[in-house]
Amino acid sequence: MYSERFQASLAAVEAAREKNLALEPARMTAQQKEDLLAEFHPDYKKGEFRELKIGPNKGEMVPTELAETLQAHSRIKASDVDLNKIDYDVDVLVIGGGGAGTSAAIEAHEAGANVMIVTKLRMGDANTMMAEGGIQAADKENDSPAIHFVDAFGGGHFAAKKELLAKLVCDAPEAIQWLSNLGVEFDKDEDGRMVTTHGGGTSRKRMHAAKDYSGAEIMRTLRDEVLNRGINVVDFTSAIELILDENGNAAGAVLLNMETKELLVARAKTVIIATGGAGRMHYQGFPTSNHYGATADGLVLGYRVGAKLLYAETLQYHPTGAAYPEQIFGALVTEKVRSLGAKLINAKGEAFMHPLETRDVSAASIIRECNARGNGVDTGSGLAVWLDTPMIEAIGGEGTIEKRIPAMMRMFGKYGIDIRKEPILIYPTLHYQNGGLDINVNGETTNVKNLFVAGEAVGGIHGRNRLMGNSLLDIIVFGRNAGQNAAATAKDVTVGALTLDHVAKFEAEIAESGIETDVVSPKLLPDYTRKVNG
Ligand code: FUM
Repeated sequence: MYSERFQASLAAVEAAREKNLALEPARMTAQQKEDLLAEFHPDYKKGEFRELKIGPNKGEMVPTELAETLQAHSRIKASDVDLNKIDYDVDVLVIGGGGAGTSAAIEAHEAGANVMIVTKLRMGDANTMMAEGGIQAADKENDSPAIHFVDAFGGGHFAAKKELLAKLVCDAPEAIQWLSNLGVEFDKDEDGRMVTTHGGGTSRKRMHAAKDYSGAEIMRTLRDEVLNRGINVVDFTSAIELILDENGNAAGAVLLNMETKELLVARAKTVIIATGGAGRMHYQGFPTSNHYGATADGLVLGYRVGAKLLYAETLQYHPTGAAYPEQIFGALVTEKVRSLGAKLINAKGEAFMHPLETRDVSAASIIRECNARGNGVDTGSGLAVWLDTPMIEAIGGEGTIEKRIPAMMRMFGKYGIDIRKEPILIYPTLHYQNGGLDINVNGETTNVKNLFVAGEAVGGIHGRNRLMGNSLLDIIVFGRNAGQNAAATAKDVTVGALTLDHVAKFEAEIAESGIETDVVSPKLLPDYTRKVNG
C-alpha cells in the first residue's frame, strides 16, 4: 500500500512489467564494472578512510570509524584485574555465540576439549540468525568445488587467500551433510533432493536454503546441539581484552559481566575469536542489515595483541536493503528475491541492470542510478529503486512467494505491502565485513600463537567481495576447523604466567603517535541515544 507520492512511478513499473520480464539485461564487461566501482562503490571513497598510525597494520587505510575504534583506549588498565584469581579455566575459550562460535565449540567438545562459549548477548544473537538466502555448496552433478572456487575467486576480485578459499569450497558439501545430520531442515523436492538456486555471481545453482530464514534454521540447530552437549555458555558477558602468557601466546580473556560490570578472568590454552561483523559501526552513515551486537569487537581484541588484519578496508553493502517503509530501513531483502526472478527497476520503469551481478557491482549500480542518473524514487527519507517482486509469481506461478520467501512476504505485509502484487523499494545497506583478522588454513592467526579466528571476524577467505551464501558456509567450515585445531593444539599447551602488559604498551603507542582520542573499545554495543547540542 503506497501513498500518492509513489503512484506515478509505480504505474510506470506496472506498465513495463511484461516488457521487463521478457528482457535479459546485459551483463557488464570487466572494464565497465571496474569503472562503476571506482566511481560509485563506498569502498572507493577516499575521504571516508583513515591511515592507521599504530599496530600491525600501521600505514594502511581503513574506514574512519574502524580506525577510531582500533586506535582507542582499552576499557581497563592491567591493575584493574587480578590475574591470580581465575574465574574460568578451560582448554578452549570461544568468544562469540553465533554460527562460527557454536560450530567451533561443538567440534572442540567432540575432540574432548573442555570448552566454554562467552557471548555478550545470548547464544544465537548474531548475524547468523538473521541470514536469509542460503548456503552455497557444490554438491550437484553439474557442479564441483573447482567451479565454486572460480566463481568465488572472480567475485572477490582474485584477492582471496587461495588456500582458505580452497578449503571453503572443498569442505562445503560435507558442511551441508553435517548440518543436515544435526537437524537442519533444508528445502527439498518431492524426491528428497535439496533445492538449489543461483546467487549473484554463481555459474551453477548451489544455494541451499531453508526458505528465506536459512540462518535462523541453522542457528536453531547449532544452539540445540551446544545445549544438548552441555557445553558451558556464559552469556551477557563480553570479552574486553585478550590475555597473553609470558611467551606472548594467547591465554584467555578478561570478561565483563554486562549487567553487574564485574570483571572476570578466563584462562585458556587456546582462544577462538568468533565475534562476527561490524554493521553496527554504520560506516559512512549506512543503515545495516546486521545484528545489534555487530561492532567489530574481535578485530579490536586481536589488533591490540598484535594480530594482523587483512582487507579491513573492504566492506560489503548488500544491494537490497529495505528503503521503505522507514520502520524496516536497512533490513535485509534477501538476494533470493532476485534469484527467483525479481528485477531491479528504476523510477521510470526501466530494468537498468542484470539482477544477479556480484554484490559490489549491484550496489554501485543502484547508487549510480539514484545519485548520478536521477532515476531514483524519492521515498521522503532518501532515494531508492524498485525490486519488482510480482515478477516472481509471474515466472514461478502463484504461491511461489509464500512458499520460497515467506519471511519477506511477512516483513512487508506488516506495513500493508503485499509483495506478490506490489514491488518494493530498496537501497544498499551495510551487510558484511569482507576483511578481518589474518589466519592460516588451520584457523590460527598468522602472528599470535594459540589465537584462532572463525566467521566474519576473519579476513581473506572471500577476497574483496563475498558471494551470497558463502558466509553461512564459512562460519560452518571455518568454525568447525577452528574448533578442531584449537582443541588439538590445546593438548600440547602449557599456559605460562598470565599478563596484560600489552594494554600499557598499546596505550604508550597511542601517546607516542600523537593520537588524541577519548574513544574506548571494544565498542560492544551501538549507541543510538540522540545527541542534543547546546
Ligand atoms: O541476500 C541474502 O540472503 C544474504 C546472504 C548472504 O549474505 O550470504
